[in-house]
Amino acid sequence: MQDIEHIAILDFGSQYTQLIARRLREMNVYTEILSPDTDLTTIKASSPKGIILSGGPGSTHSQTFNFDENILNSDIPILGICYGMQLMNTLCEGSVSSIGRGEYGKQFLSVDSRAAIFRGLADSELVWMSHGDSVENLSPHFHSIANSTDKVIAAIAHKTRPHFGVQFHPEVSHTPNGCQIINNFVEICRCSRDWNMENYIESIKHEIKEQVGDGRVVSLISGGVDSTASTLLCYEALGKERVFPIHIDNGLMRKGESESVVKLLKEHGITNIDFVDASDRFLDALKGVTDPEEKRRIIGNLFIEILEKEIEKFDTHDGKTFFCQGTLYTDLIESGKGCGNNAAVIKTHHNVNPPIVEAKRKQGLIVEPNKHIFKDEVRMVCESLGVPHVLAWRHPFPGPGLAIRIIGEIQKERLEMLREADEIYLEEIRKAGWYDKIWQAFAILLPVSTVGVMGDKRTQGNVIALRAVSSKDGMTADFSEVPYEILGRVSTRIINEIPGINRVVYDVTSKPPGTIEWE
Ligand code: XMP
Repeated sequence: MQDIEHIAILDFGSQYTQLIARRLREMNVYTEILSPDTDLTTIKASSPKGIILSGGPGSTHSQTFNFDENILNSDIPILGICYGMQLMNTLCEGSVSSIGRGEYGKQFLSVDSRAAIFRGLADSELVWMSHGDSVENLSPHFHSIANSTDKVIAAIAHKTRPHFGVQFHPEVSHTPNGCQIINNFVEICRCSRDWNMENYIESIKHEIKEQVGDGRVVSLISGGVDSTASTLLCYEALGKERVFPIHIDNGLMRKGESESVVKLLKEHGITNIDFVDASDRFLDALKGVTDPEEKRRIIGNLFIEILEKEIEKFDTHDGKTFFCQGTLYTDLIESGKGCGNNAAVIKTHHNVNPPIVEAKRKQGLIVEPNKHIFKDEVRMVCESLGVPHVLAWRHPFPGPGLAIRIIGEIQKERLEMLREADEIYLEEIRKAGWYDKIWQAFAILLPVSTVGVMGDKRTQGNVIALRAVSSKDGMTADFSEVPYEILGRVSTRIINEIPGINRVVYDVTSKPPGTIEWE
């Protein structure tokens, strides 16, 4: 982002790079993650207050990433972490070598707490290590400021410049005083720590205005936080006359979800919503379909077809109609656009990209108001814009919606049963104060006939499975240990209140080996 005080992070492929960025942002310091081959001139163009060289899976013997050595001759404060420290040492006339089995896990270090980067720490500190190489010959420009118990150099400081290297990972929670170290670096960088959601909103509004000029924006609002934040930010920046929100009800949403989109916009004084009730079209197209991938394909294609037509309705074809997307900073990083080529391409099947949107991208007509922020920052933006807490912090919901939470064929009655069960489950979880502790909680309908007894009669009914998982990113997950007392209450209510359900089970599968969704 232009003109925002920040610290730049050069990403050498560490799995913790995003965590470094999160830690700094928690300290109200904006960060930009850059490709490791970004040269000093480019870095300096946006005047960072400091530079962090991340860790990485490689060794400095085999991987140097076209790193611009001029960076190490600048007076901008630098913190090298793990691979970053080894790179600094190697390129400043020192050397590193492999240390047999390496150092992994927790270790006590003896630390020189007079060093600015270790201010406020004790002489002995617990840190978390994960490296196979270490300093062999210390660079003549640095001195050692920490050692492990077997005398391996664990941190270095430049003799004249504000450049530091640590062999361990201060960004992970297993290094108890890691935040203090990062905080010390922020002090060394003289950051004013004024990054917050209010000034993000102001600067992104400015960016949207600049980009759109006297044009207009068409925005899809699904009900999820990403599209809610990006649509509202466009309104804040451009006003009600130049933003055209589209909501497509595919009939596969949770109870009251489409209505809540309209209500939210109305509460913001926005009434020009293009509400497309396509539920019958989706249900018709899904008739008789049981294969999950086939369901996804049908839903995705129909969605694209409808969206294309709706965007077309608002397109003035003068190169001034933009399309707004809720892309997050992490999406850009994961697709390799935001940082180094080391980042894996993870998200593909989750994004709906109709040809018309791709064409707009090629013409530079895509607005992405969330592209500088992380998911929980998007939630904070929502709250700052007056979105109620329950909507701003709602769990992720898959694009194909309830279609992949009904095993087998989708039918209206099945959707109704599932909606009611899901609503009861979430209501009880919320009431018990568990909702915010869970990554995703939802009900699944198993159209399997099981036997029950009510009063003196035997009953036949369907099964509802309850799922709740904790996760950081949906890539791995553990089942949540929701207390039996809550599960019992949910079960009783579901069986008593929803005709057609006579059994409730709880899913205790983690991911891997399971997936979060059942289909
Ligand atoms: P799985 O089931 O793969 O889910 O462990 C990981 C995360 O992705 C969501 N998910 C989807 N989201 N379209 C989406 O937009 C899909 O087809 C889809 N399948 C799974 C899931 O809800 C979880 O958050």
